[in-house]
Amino acid sequence: MTETAITRACVIGWPITQSRSPLIHGYWLKSYGINGRYTKEAIAADEVEAFLSMLDARGFVGCNVTVPHKIAAYQVAFLKDASATAVGAANTLWLENGQLACANTDTYGFMTNLAATAPAWSAYDGPVMVLGAGGSARAVVYGLLQAGRRDVRVYNRSLDRAEGLARQFGAGVSAHAWAARNAHARDAALIVNTTTLGMNGIGDPAIDFAVARSHCVAADLVYVPLETAFLRDAKDHGLQVVGGLGMLLHQAVPGFARWFGVTPDVTDDLYRLIARDIEGA
Ligand SMILES: NC(=O)c1ccc[n+]([C@@H]2O[C@H](COP(=O)([O-])OP(=O)(O)OC[C@H]3O[C@@H](n4cnc5c(N)ncnc54)[C@H](OP(=O)(O)O)[C@@H]3O)[C@@H](O)[C@H]2O)c1
Repeated sequence: MTETAITRACVIGWPITQSRSPLIHGYWLKSYGINGRYTKEAIAADEVEAFLSMLDARGFVGCNVTVPHKIAAYQVAFLKDASATAVGAANTLWLENGQLACANTDTYGFMTNLAATAPAWSAYDGPVMVLGAGGSARAVVYGLLQAGRRDVRVYNRSLDRAEGLARQFGAGVSAHAWAARNAHARDAALIVNTTTLGMNGIGDPAIDFAVARSHCVAADLVYVPLETAFLRDAKDHGLQVVGGLGMLLHQAVPGFARWFGVTPDVTDDLYRLIARDIEGA
């Protein structure tokens, strides 16, 4: 009897203990009965290039990359998908004919989760507000432009960063001062928090949802806690809300499909598993 080799993938970061990716991929490996393993690898900044260049030799078919290595991974990769190029950072890598390829699946994760949780969001015209101008804001802005939105307004504490983002994407994206966010909230069809405000219960983008239109959707990328003050406040004002955990689960799908050959489902059961882990942390 021949033994099939184990297919191995991993997530690299520094530190890496906090990553929930092994729980997500481990759940899918078990659900689909795949002979695979997904591990956490603590890789320091000065080891990233060497590690990625030797992925194959180390027995990995690919990996996820988390903070603080997403930009380094993008730079090391030879082939880069459109989202990785738009964001300038990568979170998913694999080998294509022996060459290191990368993608940024945050765009896919955000847009897929948005469509699954608030399918009516796209039916309404009106500006989309993106709070924050970091790496995840780029992934979100790129997805919104791909979805055909032509009035994406980026609000950031450091205005120059919002201006840089708007310049990069060009027509359809504008930069605004952080202080202007509440003056514009009344027109918005969608308000997305991509800042770190609300993470671990610290801070809040402080949006005045009382002025928002009834069909406005509020989406948060923060998923610890599962319900941030931003989401709770939007919900209290009768708005539809989209949490960050769904995005985390959906962004994992393309990597799993590439490495293990099965496109996995984001099920309620998986959501509950990771939600329990977050709540118990
Ligand atoms: N759900 C998911 O799958 C998913 C995926 C990716 C990221 N995320 C989450 O998204 C968040 C942002 O990630 P990122 O990679 O984009 O981070 P980042 O590149 O470090 O950007 C952080 C952003 O937060 C803003 N910010 C920080 N403190 C602030 C404050 N006190 N007041 C106003 N703005 C503040 C920063 O503004 P300045 O430019 O002025 O500093 C910047 O725009 C994190 O919480 C991350 O966990 C979730």
